[in-house]
Amino acid sequence: MGYVSGSWLAALSVCRWAGVPDPRQHGSCNPGVSNVLRLYGMRLAAVTLVLDALKGIPAVFAAKFLHLPVWLQGLVGLAVLLGHSYPLWHGFRGGKAVASAFGILLVLVPTVALISALVWGLLAWRLRTAAVASLVSALIAPLVCLWWAPDYVMVVGGFSLLVLIRHGLNIRRLRRGEEPPF
Ligand code: G3P
Repeated sequence: MGYVSGSWLAALSVCRWAGVPDPRQHGSCNPGVSNVLRLYGMRLAAVTLVLDALKGIPAVFAAKFLHLPVWLQGLVGLAVLLGHSYPLWHGFRGGKAVASAFGILLVLVPTVALISALVWGLLAWRLRTAAVASLVSALIAPLVCLWWAPDYVMVVGGFSLLVLIRHGLNIRRLRRGEEPPF
């Protein structure tokens, strides 16, 4: 359930509904919130954010509701993020899992989700570079967890690792000074 729900890429559907070109062909070519914002503005980006964040919630909520052990809740969340990043029906070429991770964290560790989102928003606003905001938020999340929800440190650390891996191209572009702003 986690993998299948994660595999639905909101950015592609939202752009199709709005009648605008596929975000995988323009900007950073990433089918995610930041690229939709960069290409088509705040409204479509907000819808993409809400849908990408919501899509993983039923699976993770079910895992939590059934009182599965924390590591298993984490695996369900990871399945959502793997679905988003490597979707079967899009040739395993998906997004960077930031918005989906936010939705999952909202269920598992809401305070960590809100602090990370605040950090993301502040950095994106100041630096106009989504990747830096995402990388710093991903690094901060397990640290906040250490203090706020120590049981979830490994789980959140796993999510962060995936987000960092998915930003490999951004890290290379940042080092070359070629990362596109919003
Ligand atoms: O949330 C994804 C963001 O960190 C990077 O997206 O489009 O700038 O590669 P993008």
